[in-house]
Amino acid sequence: MSLLLGRRVPLSFVHRVGACCPAPRWKPVISSSSVRATSRATTQATHGAAIILSAAAANQNTTIMPERRPFVRLPTDVYPVNYGLCLKPDLIDFTFEGKLEAMVEVTQATNQIVMNCADIDIITASFAPEGAEEINATGFNYQNEDEKVTLSFPSALQKGSGALKIDFVGELNDKMKGFYRSKYALAGEIRYAAVTQFEATDARRAFPCWDEPAIKATFDIALIVPKDRVALSNMNVIDRKPYPEDENLVEVKFATTPIMSTYLVAFVIGEYDFVESQSSDGITVRVYTPVGKAEQGKFALEVATKTLPFYKDYFNVPYPLPKIDLIAIADFAAGAMENWGLVTYRETALLIDPKNSCSSSRQWVALVVGHELAHQWFGNLVTMEWWTHLWLNEGFASWIEYLCVDHCFPEYDIWTQFVSADYTRALDLDALDSSHPIEVNVGHPSEVDEIFDAISYSKGASVIRMLHNYIGDEDFRKGMNAYLLKFQHKNASTEDLWDCLEQASGKPIAAVMGSWTKQMGFPIVVVDQEQQGDNRVLKLSQKKFCASGPHNGEECPNWMVPISICTSDDPTCTKLKVLLDRPETTITLSGVGPDQWVKINPGTVGFYRIQYSSCMLESLLPGVRDLSLQPVDRLGLQNDLFSLSRAGIISTVEILKLMEAFINEPNYTVWSDLSCNLGVLSSLLSHTDFHEEIQEFIRDLFTPVGLSLGWDSRPGEGHLDALLRSLVLGKLGKAGHKPTLEEARRRFKEHVECKQILPADLRSPVYLTVLKHGDSSTLDTMLKLHKQADMQEEKNRIERILGAISAPDLIQKVLSFALSEEVRPQDTVSVIGGVAGSSKQGRKAAWKFVKDNWEELYNRYQGGFLISRLIKLSVDGFAIDKMAAEVKSFFESHPAPAAERTVQQCCENILLNAAWLKRDADDIHQYLLQRKAPPV
Ligand code: BES
Ligand code: ZN
Repeated sequence: MSLLLGRRVPLSFVHRVGACCPAPRWKPVISSSSVRATSRATTQATHGAAIILSAAAANQNTTIMPERRPFVRLPTDVYPVNYGLCLKPDLIDFTFEGKLEAMVEVTQATNQIVMNCADIDIITASFAPEGAEEINATGFNYQNEDEKVTLSFPSALQKGSGALKIDFVGELNDKMKGFYRSKYALAGEIRYAAVTQFEATDARRAFPCWDEPAIKATFDIALIVPKDRVALSNMNVIDRKPYPEDENLVEVKFATTPIMSTYLVAFVIGEYDFVESQSSDGITVRVYTPVGKAEQGKFALEVATKTLPFYKDYFNVPYPLPKIDLIAIADFAAGAMENWGLVTYRETALLIDPKNSCSSSRQWVALVVGHELAHQWFGNLVTMEWWTHLWLNEGFASWIEYLCVDHCFPEYDIWTQFVSADYTRALDLDALDSSHPIEVNVGHPSEVDEIFDAISYSKGASVIRMLHNYIGDEDFRKGMNAYLLKFQHKNASTEDLWDCLEQASGKPIAAVMGSWTKQMGFPIVVVDQEQQGDNRVLKLSQKKFCASGPHNGEECPNWMVPISICTSDDPTCTKLKVLLDRPETTITLSGVGPDQWVKINPGTVGFYRIQYSSCMLESLLPGVRDLSLQPVDRLGLQNDLFSLSRAGIISTVEILKLMEAFINEPNYTVWSDLSCNLGVLSSLLSHTDFHEEIQEFIRDLFTPVGLSLGWDSRPGEGHLDALLRSLVLGKLGKAGHKPTLEEARRRFKEHVECKQILPADLRSPVYLTVLKHGDSSTLDTMLKLHKQADMQEEKNRIERILGAISAPDLIQKVLSFALSEEVRPQDTVSVIGGVAGSSKQGRKAAWKFVKDNWEELYNRYQGGFLISRLIKLSVDGFAIDKMAAEVKSFFESHPAPAAERTVQQCCENILLNAAWLKRDADDIHQYLLQRKAPPV
């Protein structure tokens, strides 16, 4: 596990929230961002991209980082109005034939048409001006680097409408992007489905097109498929008839789509079962599952049918298509994809088995469904103008998924979990010098891939949560509704949303939000107080928070910080709100006596860290012990102090003392966040010879809550109890708590012998515990369970903990397993990540394995976002300076353009870890020893 930032990976690769073991979800060197900044044009049409060496950097005798050559968006002289697209996939030789007949508008006479196209062979192309004769294209000039093709015509195409016809062929690839094949087993046989994943820039791999989000058109899609296969696309089927040339095939036609962006087009051809329902607003909802597993679609179906009317009501805009399908795809790179009307999911993000799925899986499915359905409005109906505004899509959906889950499952207390999963993750990443602003210029596809990161998702969601809180729900909804209505079937930018919210609320939204989206980082608010009679006078100041300690730069950026304050009088109620729009200010709270505590940022909503004066902090600590501080505030306080200790602002010993004050903590999410941080510390201290002492600390801290929870659920217990039990037992077992280990072994044996099957919520902690302290026969048993498992959730559960095994030869066995046929291509990352995150030996072995198998891994993920995840999980946990240099030099000779920033972030993290260890290791050691020493 990475030390600080990799503990929760964004996108879904593992559960962000409620993971049973804190499994990873989703990035100096001469900062290549400075090199890039010079090469990036700022006009809309040109953005940075493609590799050339920077002579300037070379001359300065500094590290040579790749520079990118200018990226140019598609010309606007020809644009599509409607795509008539017919595809005929061959599921045996993995190719497809395609026919495109696009109605286009020529806005300026030209004798060439430039479109996006990649890995496709064009056979013929012609253009027929409306009412005139067809002209054949005389040349197809592929610009492979730019993923474009230029079709040349012998004479100029005149202004006006016309039909562009292209016949082409392509490969059904195995790279999980474009139009690709996905492997599954049915009746003991290996079979393939043909599926799509187009976001961000891969529609061009399925058909030549104008593959930019702002170039919207309607689509008439037809698929020629084997007659026994299910064929799905964005819209409902309008015709299905035998294909005249082959009696085994049928031609399936779909209704015309609304005007939409290419990245949202989808088709699926395969064997599936489904469950169906009708939402209260009349939309047909189907969940497609692997054959024989329709039951496992019921939970998602229920969530989806509740969610559609919830969004309809929230946005006050109806869902515009007649149907929506949610489908589980076996080989799938992301967690899920919001294709309009045909949402694709990893199996683990959609399927729930009442007996075999754990509580965190249910929660994850609910969040993912909530997320992707939100995109049907926010993203699909109104689409970002360019990828620079990707955060609008992803940040917004990552915020509203919680609102939706809170509506469907209030018992999940999901907003507290937001703080642990998204808010703190964003703060951690954004404290790095190698972070980036939410709004970032991007051009080349590798740059677009790079921004599907925790800044777009988690910081995006966090600043929207802060904004929602600042505006209030009513005006927020008013503004959202105005935005969706004004820009429906069109494109919008960040400013457009601010305008609508500003109109609705009368507040200076653009000015406030610009300070959060246009500059990277966030402030630390330093607070001191003075008692003046019955008044409490607070002195607040802001400066940039840096993971490496106080900001010393000359020019300190400022933020417009909405500050709220509560007191012990009523910890649930905000006493005062102010907008801190300058470096410092003084606030007087009237009627606050000397015995009251004052808390800044109740609810942990504002996107900043807080540094209290020692006397203010002292006064807050009893509120942790007696639970009078709200759970989310106990969590926030602990997390702030933890990050201050990593930055060297306070001693790590202080945070250990604080953690001991949580001994009576009842709240799952508070424990979960604390447990993540302890995991970070434990990983850091695995570089020392007193790693065992921190294990003892963990055992002591978690024993009372473990005892009170016991192993078996009690009547009346709920979702959060199940999550807490799983967390605590896993933590105790991993830290070598003997009674937990013994009981885990006993239960594991009964499970394996099929005498007493483990309840799903106990499986991760039990597997982890027995494997951590197990031998080769434990590993073999686990691999056998993996082989036998029918559900992908169970396979993933096992894959993620395999790395816990301790013996070096067994670690190697797990690493080889990661690349074997037994592991789905997208899941290799979490097996290797599990090895890296488990121990010092694992970390070294995983990194060596990544280096040794780099070509295969890079090729498998085509340098896409999964490679960034892999890098982060593999190297973020190192804590020795020379490892930063090694990682940097490896990626200089093995460039991964879409992971460039991730590599910088990892190197920065490694140096921070090393500095942290040097600074605090001795004191931590002393503290851990003396807390056990008998009092003199
Ligand atoms: N639009 C994304 C899918 C995506 C991710 C496409 C990366 C291309 C690259 C989708 O809406 C999404 O965000 N999915 C998340 C799940 C979500 C619940 C956070 C994912 O894939 O992890
Ligand atoms: Zn999304």
